[in-house]
Amino acid sequence: MAQTETTARGNWNSKLGFVLAAAGSAVGLGNIWRFPTEAASNGGGAFLLVYLVCCFLIGFPVMMAEISIGRRTDKNPVGAFKQLSPNKLYSLIGVWAVICGTMILSFYTVIAGWTFSYIFEELFFGLGLTEWAVWIADTGNGWLNALFSVAFMACTISIIRGGVSGGIERATKTLMPLLLIILIALIGYVIAQPGSSEGLAIYLQPDFSKITPQLIFAAMGQAFFSLSLGMGALITYGSYLDKKENIPQVAAMVTVTDALVAFLAGLLILPAMYLAQANGIAIFQDGAFIAGPDLIFQILPSLFHNISGLLGTLVGITFFVLLSMAALTSTISLLEVPVSYTIDNHGFERKKAALLVGSTILIISLFISFKVSLIGTFDFIFSQVGLPLSGILVCLFLSYVWKIDNAFDELEQGNTGFRNTLMGKTWMVFIMFICPVVILYNLITTFL
Ligand code: PHE
Repeated sequence: MAQTETTARGNWNSKLGFVLAAAGSAVGLGNIWRFPTEAASNGGGAFLLVYLVCCFLIGFPVMMAEISIGRRTDKNPVGAFKQLSPNKLYSLIGVWAVICGTMILSFYTVIAGWTFSYIFEELFFGLGLTEWAVWIADTGNGWLNALFSVAFMACTISIIRGGVSGGIERATKTLMPLLLIILIALIGYVIAQPGSSEGLAIYLQPDFSKITPQLIFAAMGQAFFSLSLGMGALITYGSYLDKKENIPQVAAMVTVTDALVAFLAGLLILPAMYLAQANGIAIFQDGAFIAGPDLIFQILPSLFHNISGLLGTLVGITFFVLLSMAALTSTISLLEVPVSYTIDNHGFERKKAALLVGSTILIISLFISFKVSLIGTFDFIFSQVGLPLSGILVCLFLSYVWKIDNAFDELEQGNTGFRNTLMGKTWMVFIMFICPVVILYNLITTFL
């Protein structure tokens, strides 16, 4: 099919285009470094199990809610909430979502920049330029962070400038299948190495005694972040979706893809950690697994360096190319939200909006480049608290302001009779009661 926009705002050329773009948004650094280490530190298989339950019982219904709000209104989050209620105050839910997305993008760009710089780190190491490799791997170097943040934001802006089908859809259609292939190839390599099997066992054999309330809430938070919920990405992507498409079906496809990639990332990272340990690399610090950026940016490179010859360099470069692709399909969705807002509400032309909004967010990223400790603070405020908070507001708004019957009308556009099915009725109960209560409880425990 030709890569053309058939409406002024743009739209997806195909169902697959939407699914890949939304799955691209969902699959990101959260899946590849956050999920496996959360799993490792929280009982391995037990965490995986609870995480999957959270994705399907909480994340999936909220995703359907966001997509239907977007498709009904054909708007960005701010415009969408404004259109669905006479009380303009509700557009503040959309404003909050746009703020969260903007701030998440500002620090995500810095981490994504590291995925670029580590491609060079692996290359320099492979070429025997050890000093260069050490220099470029220094994530405390503000100027380097700034340089790679600029490079990453430039890539994101250039894709967003291409529009919905010509930019986002085309890029994710190439990047997502490639990402899956690279991931599976890396898993094959790591699992075949002696020493990796202990990691595999911890990951795949759930120890049910490890399921505690704390684990359940950690898994909930992870599901929320990973599915890109609560910052309007799916409202915006939903606004470009054709009326004939079946929302429960496409939401299910996105949820399954995201959960599958998280599962596969666990199959790579946990065995890789134990393989690294078998090679004499420390993977524990103060009794707990080394987590977050340290895992990806320290343990794994040491592991790659232990693989001798060209193969080590190749595996290392491939891994960081994979990570940067996963990050890019997420930053695209993060930038698209404020860009679509600027286009819809302020009448900007897409190319100008992408450049203006992207550059403005980059200024915050440059600031963070020199003060990386801000990443943790921003992550806490805007992802851990901000996203679930807007998730609750989306559920409550849909149920009690827009009204569940109107949402069913939208959902039935591509799925006739949905409100009378068991799935439709279950969805209603989840959106009206279960999701808001469970998410709120999760949020409260974050503060305790
Ligand atoms: N889901 C992305 C990840 O797992 C992060 C993200 C959050 C992207 C919110 C967009 C919106 O890395």
